[in-house]
Amino acid sequence: MTPDASAAGQFTLSGRTITRLGFGAMRLTGEGVWGPPKDRDEALRVLKRLPELGVNFIDTADSYGPDVAEDLIAEALHPYDNMFVATKGGLTRTGPGVWPMLGRPEYLRQCVMMSLRRLKVEQLDLWQLHRIDPKVPRDEQFGVIAEFLEEGLIARAGLSQVSVEEIEAAQKVFPVATVQNRYNLTDRADEEVLDYCDREGIGFIPWFPLAAGDLAKPGGIVDKIAQAHEASAAQIALAWVLKRSANMLPIPGTSKVSHLEENVAAAQVELSDEEFQQLNKAGQEASAA
Ligand SMILES: NC(=O)c1ccc[n+]([C@@H]2O[C@H](COP(=O)([O-])OP(=O)(O)OC[C@H]3O[C@@H](n4cnc5c(N)ncnc54)[C@H](OP(=O)(O)O)[C@@H]3O)[C@@H](O)[C@H]2O)c1
Repeated sequence: MTPDASAAGQFTLSGRTITRLGFGAMRLTGEGVWGPPKDRDEALRVLKRLPELGVNFIDTADSYGPDVAEDLIAEALHPYDNMFVATKGGLTRTGPGVWPMLGRPEYLRQCVMMSLRRLKVEQLDLWQLHRIDPKVPRDEQFGVIAEFLEEGLIARAGLSQVSVEEIEAAQKVFPVATVQNRYNLTDRADEEVLDYCDREGIGFIPWFPLAAGDLAKPGGIVDKIAQAHEASAAQIALAWVLKRSANMLPIPGTSKVSHLEENVAAAQVELSDEEFQQLNKAGQEASAA
């Protein structure tokens, strides 16, 4: 059976409906998110497989490579048909494994202009501020994002690694469509942000969604439930985030078609309420430890 992302359900981001289980493109780059991927052909195969599996939401950033992930996405998928491509800016990439923040408005404008050029579009579906740069007044960063929206360079705007207070401050300047924070079964520091986004109708994009850590080891709770569903630990971790909240838009990342297919098949894993609660409790305990 071909895995089908659409089983994960849909979410509407100001007028555009996407399938909730997306794809994160960071792993399509070299070591330390620097340079081209080890296996370029496989990276292109991963991207071309997305629409065949019902995935119509990709998350990327200008700093992945830098440039590499956006270039590969355009090469594999332009003119995109029904594919929703979200990108990010505001981090530089000055070498492998390093990503200094740079939130000066003129740099953010260059980020948007260069993403438009690399993705070969006239408007970005969603542009997210990768980090609020503490060296620059945040209202200057939010203000230029409002300009991008007004000028039609971007259709929607989002934030990454932010608190509720920061989202509220941004909402005064532009409508926040998405928030992208680290979140998974065993990393639950941002429950409050997730619940706030749910109440506000903001899409929550958990990055690093696959981590199930020790819980996935043989004999652990994820392992037990995985065996009952004839599923992998990664699939159970994804099924859990999908069930956690209707505004959850996970973007598992991989450089391999086989892992992509496995991750998309998680959309078809239906956890019972009891299994969800068992995982929830174990994940909360692991997160607090
Ligand atoms: N906003 C931010 O600050 C931020 C930060 C980090 C990431 N992100 C975004 O979030 C996306 C997801 O985060 P992530 O890539 O760090 O973490 P992730 O999706 O939780 O995990 C990806 C890692 O797991 C491996 N993997 C994927 N599927 C697997 C499977 N089925 N079985 C075994 N291993 C598997 C991948 O290696 P293989 O390549 O070998 O499959 C890769 O090393 C990124 O791609 C990026 O778009 C955003």
